[in-house]
Amino acid sequence: MCGIVGYIGKDNGINLVLDGLEELEYRGYDSAGIAFINDPKSNVYKEVGEVKNLKKIVQKDKPNSNLIIGHTRWATHGKPSIVNAHPHFNSDRTIYVVHNGIIENYQEIKNRLIDQGYNFISETDSEVIPHLIDYYYSKTNNILESIKLALNDLVGTYALEIISTLTPQKLYLARLGSPLVIGIMKNGYITGSDKNVVLEHTSKATFLNDYDLAEVSLSKLKIINLKDKDSNPPKIELLENEKTGNDLGNFPDYMLKEIHDTPETIKLAVTGRINPKQGNVKLGGLDSVIKELEHIDRIIIVACGTSYYAGLVGEYLIEELANIPVEVVLASEFKYKKEPISRSACVIAISQSGETADTIAALNKVKDYGVLELGIVNSIGSSVARLTDAGVYCHAGTEKSVASTKAFISQVTILTLVALRLKKSPDKISRKILSELQALPQKIKTVLNLENQIKELAKRYKDYSNFLYIGRGYNYPAALEGALKLKEISYIHAEGFAAGEMKHGPLALIDSKFPTFAIATDGPLLEKTISNIEEIKARGGPVLAVATIGNKKLKKLVDDVIYIPKTLEQTSTQLIGVVLQLFAYYMAHELSKNIDKPRNLAKSVTVE
Ligand code: M6R
Repeated sequence: MCGIVGYIGKDNGINLVLDGLEELEYRGYDSAGIAFINDPKSNVYKEVGEVKNLKKIVQKDKPNSNLIIGHTRWATHGKPSIVNAHPHFNSDRTIYVVHNGIIENYQEIKNRLIDQGYNFISETDSEVIPHLIDYYYSKTNNILESIKLALNDLVGTYALEIISTLTPQKLYLARLGSPLVIGIMKNGYITGSDKNVVLEHTSKATFLNDYDLAEVSLSKLKIINLKDKDSNPPKIELLENEKTGNDLGNFPDYMLKEIHDTPETIKLAVTGRINPKQGNVKLGGLDSVIKELEHIDRIIIVACGTSYYAGLVGEYLIEELANIPVEVVLASEFKYKKEPISRSACVIAISQSGETADTIAALNKVKDYGVLELGIVNSIGSSVARLTDAGVYCHAGTEKSVASTKAFISQVTILTLVALRLKKSPDKISRKILSELQALPQKIKTVLNLENQIKELAKRYKDYSNFLYIGRGYNYPAALEGALKLKEISYIHAEGFAAGEMKHGPLALIDSKFPTFAIATDGPLLEKTISNIEEIKARGGPVLAVATIGNKKLKKLVDDVIYIPKTLEQTSTQLIGVVLQLFAYYMAHELSKNIDKPRNLAKSVTVE
């Protein structure tokens, strides 16, 4: 987590860095800070809370600098406070550091430095870095050498940007396990943890690799790989400008805007990729691995959070349509699991951001296994996209709200395409599903028209402290996702269960104060879900259901029902997903929560 921005150039870059930090707020918003050099002086500003608070205090003083680093924090070690905010510095304030990642051996280094007379003011792991560089500077009298020696001592992960009054014309960057990109402008360099920071200013950039240490000055960009001891000329790439999604329009927040983006999201996911008449799917991103795909006999999907739940829908789709066994594993578990994986397996990583640390670690784990690695990623050029052999982009546009909405709808749609692509030969069901995917945007618009009804329901249900979400088959992962969405933004405790599991434990929770959100749309398992609802009603539990239009039986049985248009079982998650997203949204809205930036969370989970 945490966002980093840096600038070295001919102009005053203060506002450029502050704007970049705002762009990166999705990575953390506990506190923010900048440090800059105005040779021979340096200065640092820090503020608790969102970047706008920092902006206010900085812009009042109108400072001027062409060498700046900035940081927006998601607290790992130590609470959000001014002293714990980055940049951190040495006691003489000659070395400033911003850090994303975790230094696992920080306590050991801190103890060592304290023994040497060093003084620490924060509770963070990151503060050891400027002191360690300072320590090595006292031995070497050379900043670059001191940074190298310091990096050699660190165990953990980092994206680092460093400035020093001792080298007032240089910006240093280092990467191990957390992304950093250097944008090349006409009059300098803009750097950061995400290409979107750079894209505002230039499309020419270079990405650091693990163990890279960059020394950037106006006359030279030098990158050394500390592992290979190589100093190769930087590989300059032209960045693709994706739809940024920054424009809120008339929406009060990004989550609602992004839910309303979903009809377009589906169009963007399928455009140019499907031929409903023939039942064919063409995924250009998989062309290079067509031969390998023909031989896979097992798929392991790795992902976290909402992307994991999309993966579970993918399991139902791929197993049913392509007849290939699928396992969906939480990336945080997969990376430590000791299971046999043969070369005929294929690992698919699903990630909106493409920067989730656990998902990256899962891919890294199988790097040497000789298995095919695919990515389903939204963020173009992100780490997961770079690490995988091939993949399919979601093209959903930037998702800014922490709660994933349009990306989920897109991931499920892409997984449907992948399942049909892996199917040996297209048939009637392929054609039906593809035609239905084309019809989904209009059907989602019908669901979006239910907004007022859902808003009213949220008013009625907002005071419950617990919620159960249930479903069977394709509706089971939807139930899990519905529960995640509700807890994430409204802070109401919610759990998702396979409806068939109720009698195995969860039914004990049910009473008049414990409502259930039942996903009971048309499909072969509907009657079974209805039996589960009967059992909940018999025990006095309130039930709110989402059902397919025309189902009168459910109306009589449950307390409230939200009707969605008829669709296929295999395409129902997209419509149900939007209902669940709107419900969570309006519950959080009724409870006056900060919807786009829920407490304790960040959009991109770049630390373990
Ligand atoms: O960027 P990713 O898709 O890899 O992110 C995975 C999860 O962190 C993410 O889906 C998270 O669960 C969302 N905040 C849920 O709304």
